[in-house]
Amino acid sequence: MTSILEFSGEISFENCINKIIHGDCLEVMRNLPNNCVDVIITSPPYNLLNSTGNGLKKNTKTGKWKNAAIKNGYAEYEDNMPYEEYINWQRECVAEMCRLIKDDGAIFYNNKNRVQNGLLQNRGEILTGFPLRQIITWKRSGAINFNPGYFLPTTEQIYLVCNKNFKLAKGANKNTDVWEVTQEMKNPHPAPFPEELIDKIVSSTTGKIILDPFGGSGTTAVSAKKFGRDFILIEKSFEYCKLAQSRIDGKEDWRNVGNNSRENSKQPLQERLLVLPFPDEY
Ligand SMILES: C[S@@+](CC[C@H](N)C(=O)[O-])C[C@H]1O[C@@H](n2cnc3c(N)ncnc32)[C@H](O)[C@@H]1O
Repeated sequence: MTSILEFSGEISFENCINKIIHGDCLEVMRNLPNNCVDVIITSPPYNLLNSTGNGLKKNTKTGKWKNAAIKNGYAEYEDNMPYEEYINWQRECVAEMCRLIKDDGAIFYNNKNRVQNGLLQNRGEILTGFPLRQIITWKRSGAINFNPGYFLPTTEQIYLVCNKNFKLAKGANKNTDVWEVTQEMKNPHPAPFPEELIDKIVSSTTGKIILDPFGGSGTTAVSAKKFGRDFILIEKSFEYCKLAQSRIDGKEDWRNVGNNSRENSKQPLQERLLVLPFPDEY
């Protein structure tokens, strides 16, 4: 069974391989040595619940997205920091990630541009000063759009931040920089990666050790294992650590771990897509 290690202030790198670390990712990363991992694939919380629109405000029962799983936030993280604080926190996380990757290492950092109060919140604010090489657009599936004022948002960004010597796996450059992958619909975590998206990243790289500091339900580890790579997962919520453990170990009932399962939904797909992660913050 994949072990969940409790972070208690110190940790040895060797001990982290193919483990789930329950702890704060900044604290854990600060305890890992320089240049120790090949690839980082991660999606931090997007700070969605500090929305200026009413669609995603926490504890409101209104808005078009009142049923969105993410509206309740994560199990142990509120996702509503003041904007400056969020940017500074994410910059600290990316700085640690840059310290951890090898000379030919890469970070695939998923986040999303937002418009708030009529102003662009471009995630360039997080990534300025780091070695950004390319921006991949992840295009999710469409759904029914109830909002007469907006085109239906379906895209997010995956920022490839990497050191000079990073090269794609042979043949991976036949992909374009727009990836159409349907969002995940059966995972009880409120904002999971679709496995297909991470498979695409892992198979486009050759690195052996893959880290996800915002591990969530463990999709990065599941994919790493599938392609014969090692993983290190860090996650703040124990509930999600257990969910990740169950998935990594191939337990058939993993979709019942946690309290928010959408597995048994009888709703048609188009309706379920409405309540999926990242519905955007009108
Ligand atoms: C967008 S989700 C990641 C989902 C993941 N990619 C998956 O496929 O399930 C972000 C995750 O970061 C976790 N998180 C929030 N703050 C954290 C912190 N300081 N350290 C570690 N994890 C944190 C949340 O609990 C949440 O599970």
